[in-house]
Amino acid sequence: MAQLLHRISGYLVYSSSSGKKDKNQAESALPKNLLEDFHSASSQPENGYIYDKKPFKMVLDPEKHYNWCLCGQSKSQPLCDGTHKAMGLKIKLRPVRFKVAEKKEYWLCNCKQTTHRPFCDGTHKREDIQALKR
Ligand code: FES
Repeated sequence: MAQLLHRISGYLVYSSSSGKKDKNQAESALPKNLLEDFHSASSQPENGYIYDKKPFKMVLDPEKHYNWCLCGQSKSQPLCDGTHKAMGLKIKLRPVRFKVAEKKEYWLCNCKQTTHRPFCDGTHKREDIQALKR
């Protein structure tokens, strides 16, 4: 069965000729964090504060390391500015250190609910997130 790759609002989505989305193939089209296996922050079980209801597009450089804000409190979204260290906020979430394979535009999650940190996987489209008043 032929598979088609669509770009919908910046997301790559696979669908079969019948129009059904294939989640596994869609996830394999998402970019990979090359540091995911080296930093435990990638696998923290909790998600942060929903900062925005849509992702943020950024050109990333493969020569650099980045820290993606997971707590949702950074003033430099979608990247960490160190706010999580503020004693008064008592934030336990740590930023996710990441690196990409090539220089290009990436959609970084800004709802902080993605299952593919730090990249947007479309989770922000959930009704409960879109229903938030912001
Ligand atoms: S912004 Fe898309 S999953 Fe978070």
